[in-house]
Amino acid sequence: MGTRRLLPWTLVLRRLRDRRKISIFTFRNSTNDMRSSPHFRRCLRLIGLWFLAGFAVACSKDSSPTPNRNRMNDTQEFITSMKIVDPHSFARPYEALATHLDLDITVDFANKRISGRASYDVRKEEGATQIIFDTRGINILGVTTPGDSTSEDSLLFLMGDADPVLGQALSVQLTPEIERIHIDFSTRPGAAALQWLDPVQTAGKQHPFLFTQSQAILARTWLPCQDGPGMRFTYNATVRVPKDLLALMSASNPTEINAEGIYKFEMNQPIPAYLMALSVGDLRFKAIGPRTGVYAEPSVLDKGVYEFADMEKMLVAAEELYGPYSWERYDVIVLPPSFPFGGMENPRLTFATPTILAGDRSLTSLIAHELAHSWSGNLVTNATWNDFWLNEGFTVYFERRIMEKLYGESYVRMLSLLGYQDLQATLSEIGPSADDTKLKLNLKGRDPDDGMTDVAYEKGNFLLANIEKTVGRERFDAFLKQYFSTYAFGTMTTESFVDYVDQELVKGDEELRARLNLQGWVYAPGLPADFVPPESDRFSRVDAQRTAWEGGTAAAELSGTAEWTTHEWLHFIRKLPREMSAPQMADLDAAFGFTQSGNSEIQAAWFEHVIRNGYSSGYAALESFLLRVGRRKFLKPLYSALAETPAGKERGLAIYQKARPNYHSVSVGTIDEILNLKMSN
Ligand code: BES
Ligand code: ZN
Repeated sequence: MGTRRLLPWTLVLRRLRDRRKISIFTFRNSTNDMRSSPHFRRCLRLIGLWFLAGFAVACSKDSSPTPNRNRMNDTQEFITSMKIVDPHSFARPYEALATHLDLDITVDFANKRISGRASYDVRKEEGATQIIFDTRGINILGVTTPGDSTSEDSLLFLMGDADPVLGQALSVQLTPEIERIHIDFSTRPGAAALQWLDPVQTAGKQHPFLFTQSQAILARTWLPCQDGPGMRFTYNATVRVPKDLLALMSASNPTEINAEGIYKFEMNQPIPAYLMALSVGDLRFKAIGPRTGVYAEPSVLDKGVYEFADMEKMLVAAEELYGPYSWERYDVIVLPPSFPFGGMENPRLTFATPTILAGDRSLTSLIAHELAHSWSGNLVTNATWNDFWLNEGFTVYFERRIMEKLYGESYVRMLSLLGYQDLQATLSEIGPSADDTKLKLNLKGRDPDDGMTDVAYEKGNFLLANIEKTVGRERFDAFLKQYFSTYAFGTMTTESFVDYVDQELVKGDEELRARLNLQGWVYAPGLPADFVPPESDRFSRVDAQRTAWEGGTAAAELSGTAEWTTHEWLHFIRKLPREMSAPQMADLDAAFGFTQSGNSEIQAAWFEHVIRNGYSSGYAALESFLLRVGRRKFLKPLYSALAETPAGKERGLAIYQKARPNYHSVSVGTIDEILNLKMSN
């Protein structure tokens, strides 16, 4: 941990290009078509590596003045100044980087095991003697390198000390001629990224199911890899699964189950390990538009197709905003309800919870969000998890721009105000001046998951909204479009982003710099003093009705509620008094049917009141919700509310005992903590 390292060289080169220090990029800029070819990208990478290697040699050997001396020093200093620390990876990409993965694995449901071979192409600096991978709880069976045409030579490898969060470094000894290595491995049943579902946990109840969740640092629990967001690789995969199941990855995907149970995948754009993803189950596909479609279990498929009908329009809207989509297709897989997140932006194939299938398309901002990550996150990636807001804050901002294009301003004002409420709740939970309320985080020595709060999402979004307001939408849109194309397939640090704003927008205008207040937004806790919270007329009308109800008007007599959408209902429920009487709860439930709502967001928000007010008519539905749904965002507030009283905690523990085996490790970790359990998986 804590090794200092250079930024991946791709970014080094981009930064050099930006400062017009090297000319190969003039050539690159003028070859738009070639630029997108993977081959060309590989060549570029090679040129880059040689450039850097040559450069290091030039600088170390010669101290006598040369005509280029100043430029050299400047450049060297520039490279050195960009040393960054990824506190969550053992890898040393500046010594040896795995640039391409060929994965060949078998998925064994009976033994809950993935086993096979990860072959990596290695690019190394001259003199590098090892390449380091991240692993956590996987068996490394052997490491070899291709020998002559038929043989393989074993390579020495070493496993480092085990850290409970980071796992173990796997160091493989290299010799100058080694360019490719094979790692034979198998996972263990408790692999944290993997959730192996029994047939009863699926919609169809007939077949088992497997999905991965690699973000933030769980890829290393199912695959030896250089597991930091600043290291990218392309991949091909062959995946063997039981014959009646379909395998899908964050790559080019099949649309039908085949007789052999062998599936091949290609991801030709370089991605970081946290975007490695696999899902296996009884899955079917239906197209939505030419580039978009849905995968789901057969009984869920049509619901998904209905719900996500606007996906193609979202894709078009996103491209209109910030430039071409780089990943060819955009599909969504609807997973079983134990998926611990709402969505995960695995490239080409977003993983989504079925809890957004509300039947009325009201929760699809989540799809806009995951789609937006195709730019913010997947294309321009946070350099380390300390820069997480660059992924999520940008994505929330972008998500809302897509939603605004499709559904208008008043809709998005509701989303923003709900987001602001989430942020307020988080700020009061962790303390308004806590370090974790800064956008730039310091997660060294901690599980990165700990810092992944609404601060990154909502404060990050409001920072960008503030720039937009200050410089004007037109200018900001042009800026963002250029940002995504300049840094495509690269990484970004918070500091580089601030520099980039300075260079492209501030341009020495001190008054503008002061109004943007980036230093305050990024490095100070909480929200800046002059922050103006979002407003929504629609929510103001909801507030008026709630006030009337609190004043004694019966729920059924409230006006305008027939026109309310999910978001108005959410606002209404959130703002209800913390303490309500049994008749009051019953009045609301009888009029609006919250307990039995088919909308998971409404149910989850309502259940908090059910718990706090001991509304026993809601208990059965609460329990079945907690048994069925594994989405952490819902579980966390509900178990926390249960844990507020001794009796509640007892009920919570009783439910959790039954529910825990159905949850993914990500949710288990959080709920164990809430209920003060120290259990192992
Ligand atoms: N990338 C995140 C999910 C994530 C974050 C996984 C950190 C692991 C670590 C994803 O894009 C996301 O933000 N999902 C949200 C939904 C979104 C609409 C705010 C979620 O799952 O709730
Ligand atoms: Zn996100």
